[in-house]
Amino acid sequence: MFPNIFSKAGLTTAFYTLALASRCSANDGLEWISKDPTLPKVVIYSAGGTILSASNYSRLDNIKYGRGVGPTPQQLIGNVSEVLDVAQLAVVKFPATGGSSGLNSSLYLNISQYANRQLCSEGSDIAGAIMFHGTNTLEETAFGVDLTFNCSKPFIATGSMRPDTYVSPDGRSNFYQAVAAAASPASRDRGGLIVFNDRISSIFYSSKTNANTPDTFKALEQGNLGAFLGGQPFYYFDPAYPTGRPTFDVTNTTVLPAVLTLWLHQGFDSTLMYAAVANGAKGLVILGPGAAQLSPAANKAADELYKKGIPTIAVPRPVTGSGMPDPYPGSVIFSSYVGGDQARIMLQLAINAGYSMDQIRDLFEGPLRKAIFGTKVNQMTYFAQE
Ligand SMILES: *[C@@H]1O[C@H](CO)[C@@H](O)[C@H](O)[C@H]1NC(C)=O
Ligand SMILES: *[C@@H]1O[C@H](CO)[C@@H](O)[C@H](O)[C@H]1NC(C)=O
Ligand SMILES: *[C@@H]1O[C@H](CO)[C@@H](O)[C@H](O)[C@H]1NC(C)=O
Ligand SMILES: *[C@@H]1O[C@H](CO)[C@@H](O)[C@H](O)[C@H]1NC(C)=O
Ligand SMILES: *[C@@H]1O[C@H](CO)[C@@H](O)[C@H](O)[C@H]1NC(C)=O
Ligand SMILES: *[C@@H]1O[C@H](CO)[C@@H](O)[C@H](O)[C@H]1NC(C)=O
Repeated sequence: MFPNIFSKAGLTTAFYTLALASRCSANDGLEWISKDPTLPKVVIYSAGGTILSASNYSRLDNIKYGRGVGPTPQQLIGNVSEVLDVAQLAVVKFPATGGSSGLNSSLYLNISQYANRQLCSEGSDIAGAIMFHGTNTLEETAFGVDLTFNCSKPFIATGSMRPDTYVSPDGRSNFYQAVAAAASPASRDRGGLIVFNDRISSIFYSSKTNANTPDTFKALEQGNLGAFLGGQPFYYFDPAYPTGRPTFDVTNTTVLPAVLTLWLHQGFDSTLMYAAVANGAKGLVILGPGAAQLSPAANKAADELYKKGIPTIAVPRPVTGSGMPDPYPGSVIFSSYVGGDQARIMLQLAINAGYSMDQIRDLFEGPLRKAIFGTKVNQMTYFAQE
C-alpha cells in the first residue's frame, strides 16, 4: 500500500510506518517517514552534495570521491536512524546535477517556493526544514532562500566535506544535528541557519572558509549562535534576526536580473565593468581592497553606470569587516557587513522587487549609516568639516 522506500536500504519497514500526508497544501505530496507520530515534522530539501556522495577509491579518499555511488536521503535516514527519534521526516529532491559549482538562482527560487508553501502557509504542521547542498556554493543557495523565506520557522542548511565512505564521515553527524535543530522550537525566529561541524551560525553572515576541512562554514566576525552537545542544539543567545535582514517575495519569480561580481586588483581598469553591462548585467558587485575602496577608474565607471540606473555595490576584499558608507552618498553603494556572494544575491532580489537606487542604498547602508552618522558626535565629526 505504501511505497517501500527502505527496500533499497535493505532495512525492514517493520520498525517504521509511512504515514501518507493529510491533504493540506503544506503537505502536498509529502510522504512522512515516522517512528512516532507525535514528533515534530521536518522536511528535507535535498540538492545533493558530498553528504550524499561516496568514493570508490578508499576510505581515506576525500578528494576525488564523486565516482562512487552515494546514499539516497532515505538510505542516509536508515544509516542515521536516530533522526527518527527527534522528528518525522519527508524528502523533496531538487535537480542539482554536476556539482554545486554549476548551480544558479533557479534552485534557490524553487526551494524557497516549496519552503514558503509547505512551512509558512496557514495551518502548516511542519516544524522546520533542512537543506542538503554541495558545500562549494551552499552559502549562495542558502542565502537566496534565507532572504525569501517568510516565516519564523527554522530553515537549516547542511552538507558535508567528506564523502559518506570516509573512515569518519562528517555528513552523518551534520545530518543528525540539522534535524535536531530543525525540530527544536529554540531554532525559531533567528533567520536561516547553517548547521555544520557541531556549530550553528547565521546563513546571513556565514561563508565557506576552508576548501578541504570539515570546520569550514563560519561567520568569522559575528561568531557562532550555538553548538551541539549530545546531538542537541544549545544556543548562546535568545532569538534575534541579523541586523537589516530583508525579506523578498519570489512567489511568482522564475528568473532574476543578472548581477555580476568583479574582483578589483592593482591595475584594474574598469573595462570589465562596461563589458558586464553590455552583456546584460543590471547591477555590479565589486570586491574592493580595504574597506571596499574602488580605484579612480572604477569609481568613474560606477558613476557613469549609476546615472544609467545600474547600481555598483562595493564589498570589502578583506575576509572580514565592513564596506564603509561615505558620509555623503555618492554613486557607489557600500555593502556594510554583507559579503560578496551575498551582496550579489541581495542586489538581484532588490532589483527584481523594483527597488529604486535610493532604496537599494538604504537596504545595504541604512543600518550602518544610522549607527555611525546618526550620532551627534559623528554629525560634528563628519558633517561640520565641509
Ligand atoms: C548504510 O546504508 C546502506 C544502504 O542503505 C547500507 O548498505 C550500509 O551498510 C549502511 N551503512 C552503515 C554503516 O550502516
Ligand atoms: C571508480 O570509478 C571510476 C569511474 O566509474 C572507474 O574508472 C574506476 O575504475 C573505479 N575504481 C575502482 C577502484 O573501482
Ligand atoms: C522545482 O523542483 C521540483 C521538485 O524537484 C521539480 O519537479 C521542478 O522541476 C523544479 N522546477 C524548476 C523550475 O526547476
Ligand atoms: C539554471 O540551470 C538550469 C540547469 O542547467 C537551467 O535549466 C536554468 O535555465 C538555469 N537558470 C538560469 C536562471 O540561468
Ligand atoms: C510576509 O508575510 C506577512 C504575513 O505573515 C505579509 O504581511 C508580508 O507581506 C510578507 N512579506 C513578504 C516579503 O512576502
Ligand atoms: C502570484 O501569481 C498569482 C497567480 O497569478 C497571483 O494570484 C498572486 O497574487 C501573485 N503573487 C504575487 C506576490 O505576486
